Amino acid sequence: MTYPTTATTLLDAVEANLRGVRARVGDRLVLAAVKADAYGHGAVAVASMIERTGAADWLGVATVGEGLELRGAGVRLPILKLSPVREDDDVEAALAADLTLSVVDDASADQVAAAMRRLGLSDVAVHLKVDTGMRRVGVEPEDAPALAGRIAASGLRLQGLFSHLPISDNPAGAAFTREQIERFAGTAAAVEDAVGPVELKHLANSGAVLGHPAAWFDLVRPGIMIYGSLPDPEAEPTVPLRPALQWRTAVTFVKRVEAGETVSYGRTWTAPRDTWIATIPVGYGDGYSRLLSNRGRVLIGGRSHPIAGRVCMDQTMVDLGPETSVRVGDEVVLVGRSGEEEITATELADLMGTIPYEVTCLITPRVTRDYLPALA
Ligand SMILES: Cc1ncc(COP(=O)(O)O)c(C=O)c1O
Repeated sequence: MTYPTTATTLLDAVEANLRGVRARVGDRLVLAAVKADAYGHGAVAVASMIERTGAADWLGVATVGEGLELRGAGVRLPILKLSPVREDDDVEAALAADLTLSVVDDASADQVAAAMRRLGLSDVAVHLKVDTGMRRVGVEPEDAPALAGRIAASGLRLQGLFSHLPISDNPAGAAFTREQIERFAGTAAAVEDAVGPVELKHLANSGAVLGHPAAWFDLVRPGIMIYGSLPDPEAEPTVPLRPALQWRTAVTFVKRVEAGETVSYGRTWTAPRDTWIATIPVGYGDGYSRLLSNRGRVLIGGRSHPIAGRVCMDQTMVDLGPETSVRVGDEVVLVGRSGEEEITATELADLMGTIPYEVTCLITPRVTRDYLPALA
């Protein structure tokens, strides 16, 4: 018996969402962000599907370890480590596995060049990250041409120049995003004046794929949209998206509770009438947030039922109402469809005061994983 709480990644939905991205951006290359275990959807399965179907051209990870995991699973697509090289990164292992690294300053560029020489490699490509307004990481735009010169002089190949957009997903931030796009274009021109053409200039995350064609340049880097969520509720859905996650469990216990009795820790929920309560084997130990206590809902047999009381570490209770046909073993949908009803990662995110990215990243290893279509 496997643990009944199961997260199913719908690989064909990820593929369809990527095809939607391709249709929107024309002949630009597409990098699929598969960092953080593909936003909690299973990086090896998602990346392998992408390689098999040709749904994207590049993969994006955050750490050397994430890149090595994909190479270990036999993935051969180009992989860009989006976060810049850090002093303690195993750069030699990364280059030996043909990961493409990002650099942001003299130290990170020199570190990659030194590893290249130690390994006796030639033609190692790097991408230079410029900070055009995120204020997270990146070389200042005015310093980019000099750093590009140092990269070229060290024998590395400057294959890419990129930057990141903090508010491309919200129309209220459109003016800021337009300024960033201009700053990026200006920086790219100055860098190319200094060292010659740069093959891949890239800036667009999901928000910019959806709403800022001027940010598409040579390659786009969608993440959340390929898993079927909008990056922001205000983003215009210019690409049709299908949620790629179904999160389900099964009823383990059903009991009658009388009016006035309380349910779960802290006694925060009192039965307003005699009612049936179902217990389900999911809790914050599975990544089902305690913030959903008394706020979330689940679907059983196409009907919506509210969470009664606090979400526990391993179990949660649900109010079935005064009459019910629900039985032990019945399927419970936490995220996904049941009949005409649907619960999305965005709905849970709203209730938790966060974003859908976090909802899917929070799902813990205890949860059974499967994939549709099934993995070979
Ligand atoms: C550098 C970079 N590019 C692209 C993405 C994808 O962003 P999104 O998931 O909003 O499309 C991310 C994710 O945060 C990122 O850090």
